[in-house]
Amino acid sequence: MTILDGKKTSADIKAEIAEKVKELKAQGKKTPHLAAVIVGNDGASKTYVGAKVKACELVGFDSTLIELPTETTEAELLAKIEELNNNDAIDGYIVQLPLPKHIDEHKVLLAVDATKDVDGFHPTNVGRMALELPTFLPATPYGVMELLERYKVPTSGKNVVVIGRSHIVGRPMSILMSQKRAAGDATVTVAHSRTANLKELTLKADIIVVALGVAEFLTGDMVKEGVTIIDVGITRLDDPSKKNGFRLAGDVHFESVAPKAAFITPVPGGVGPMTIAMLLKNTLLAGENRA
Ligand code: GUN
Repeated sequence: MTILDGKKTSADIKAEIAEKVKELKAQGKKTPHLAAVIVGNDGASKTYVGAKVKACELVGFDSTLIELPTETTEAELLAKIEELNNNDAIDGYIVQLPLPKHIDEHKVLLAVDATKDVDGFHPTNVGRMALELPTFLPATPYGVMELLERYKVPTSGKNVVVIGRSHIVGRPMSILMSQKRAAGDATVTVAHSRTANLKELTLKADIIVVALGVAEFLTGDMVKEGVTIIDVGITRLDDPSKKNGFRLAGDVHFESVAPKAAFITPVPGGVGPMTIAMLLKNTLLAGENRA
């Protein structure tokens, strides 16, 4: 069994990016600049955004964190987005999701300048991805593809089951893995909450991507020997024995699944760090595109 080490792989990618930034600086060129907007006080979201900003510092990017209160109106957020669109110093930016319920997420994502949309969430960029045109790939699926590619996990002709059809993970994951590309050429099934006989599907799968948000959902009895497991889930479970009062659980019951797996991502230290590395890669590309 091989652990797909996202922490190490993301560190490798960040080192590659830091090297590029050094070259840019030596040539007197502009340093890539990422901005992140967060609305409200969700603890997990704040942690993720904090990690993204910290990663920028690590590779030598400029970064701007914009923290807005929960009561921010949709109009105020749209005005902030317009400001970021028009700010030449900013190469790319993200609006951390989820947004408070009174804000229309679709309206917000549509307002982001597609050339600065380093999350790859704008409908234009989703369309470009589906058409295999150059674009910003959404960071989490992009990170999974990169991990599969760097570990040379065979995907061509393999049966892949993606559990979850979210716009930011499951759906793009299924599109990318079915495409003719590195870590692609697979036969993909998208399973979700209405899927009948999920276990029948997962038992036949060569690769399972679990992006459901239900802690320890996939158990050992649901997978075949030699399966590759990609665990995108990350849930905080109360655990009074821990210093911060919680532990992180993936969507995979690691203890029962890992012994049957050929390759498996851990949680934490699997897909999560890859997401951040690919966001940086997209920001580097945004800077290059604008130069
Ligand atoms: N919320 C969960 N994942 C993501 C992500 O990749 N980008 C943004 N903006 N919000 C998220």
